Amino acid sequence: MFRHSIRTLLVGVCTLTAVSQAATAVALAVPAEPRTAAPAAQALRQQTRSDLTTAMKGEAFAYASYSLFGAQADREAHPAVGKLFRTTAQTELNEHLKQAATLGGVAGTNAANLRQSINGETYEHRVMYRGFADQARKDGDSEAAKLFTEIAADEGRHRDAYRTALTVVTTGRGTVPAPPKADTVSVPAGLPKVKAARTKTNLDTAMHGEALAHAKYMLFAARAQQTGNPALARLFEGTAGVELHEHFAGEAVLAGLVRTTKDNLGKAITGERNEATNLYPGFAKRATAVGDTAAARYFRDTAADEAKHAAAFQQALNQLH
Ligand SMILES: [Fe+2]
Ligand SMILES: [Fe+2]
Ligand SMILES: [Fe+2]
Repeated sequence: MFRHSIRTLLVGVCTLTAVSQAATAVALAVPAEPRTAAPAAQALRQQTRSDLTTAMKGEAFAYASYSLFGAQADREAHPAVGKLFRTTAQTELNEHLKQAATLGGVAGTNAANLRQSINGETYEHRVMYRGFADQARKDGDSEAAKLFTEIAADEGRHRDAYRTALTVVTTGRGTVPAPPKADTVSVPAGLPKVKAARTKTNLDTAMHGEALAHAKYMLFAARAQQTGNPALARLFEGTAGVELHEHFAGEAVLAGLVRTTKDNLGKAITGERNEATNLYPGFAKRATAVGDTAAARYFRDTAADEAKHAAAFQQALNQLH
């Protein structure tokens, strides 16, 4: 089922979020692995790498959000808008995110991809979700505390399965674990179900992490399939499904991510316009200035695509009235 291969991000590149910073810290505690990034990626300046990581996070989040917005449009009997959200979501994942991941050399060998995944899961299991659960409990957001605690346990199981798979890949002994099954959560339009500003911020951080994990694992699944390891491909793909359909979706319910289709279109237009006129042109300028020409071209082309997305969403919004 991975007709669409995807890519991922660079755990080792610290950008904005605490997630990637902590993931980097966790990565340092793990034995070094051979670098598998493509030569072009190694030549990138640190700032360009960081901007590519930011791009991947945004694109992964757009994919996940638009998928839910598409389902909401269907619920409201706006099938054309549903289709628009879904096709745009595919562009974000299979073109924009994939290209950024290729430029950044995100996917390596199966062993490198597993180590990167183990680092991320370990951080989420031991640090991030436990911290978020504690804070939500203190802030009186008991439903969020419960969800964060449940997800923390899931991430521990993901880490364990990936560790087992890494042993299989590196020693040739044993069996790659069967993939986990996602308990798909439906995300109808609704207001936030949490009170504290801190919980809302943590939910946003968590959703970005889950969306990115989903995208990375789909990319790693494609790599495993290409290299003749279908069992590992199934493990990555199944875990990706949990990150998206269970973790991201469960958090989206509490965060009130999905609203009416009119509001969802408005939010999408704002985001696309920002990417088209501020974010990507700024990244392109920086990449050009330091001679990262392939990345600069990617940022420019992506900015142009996002402007088209904004226009298409605007047209859909106009027709809704
Ligand atoms: Fe995009
Ligand atoms: Fe996970
Ligand atoms: Fe997750």
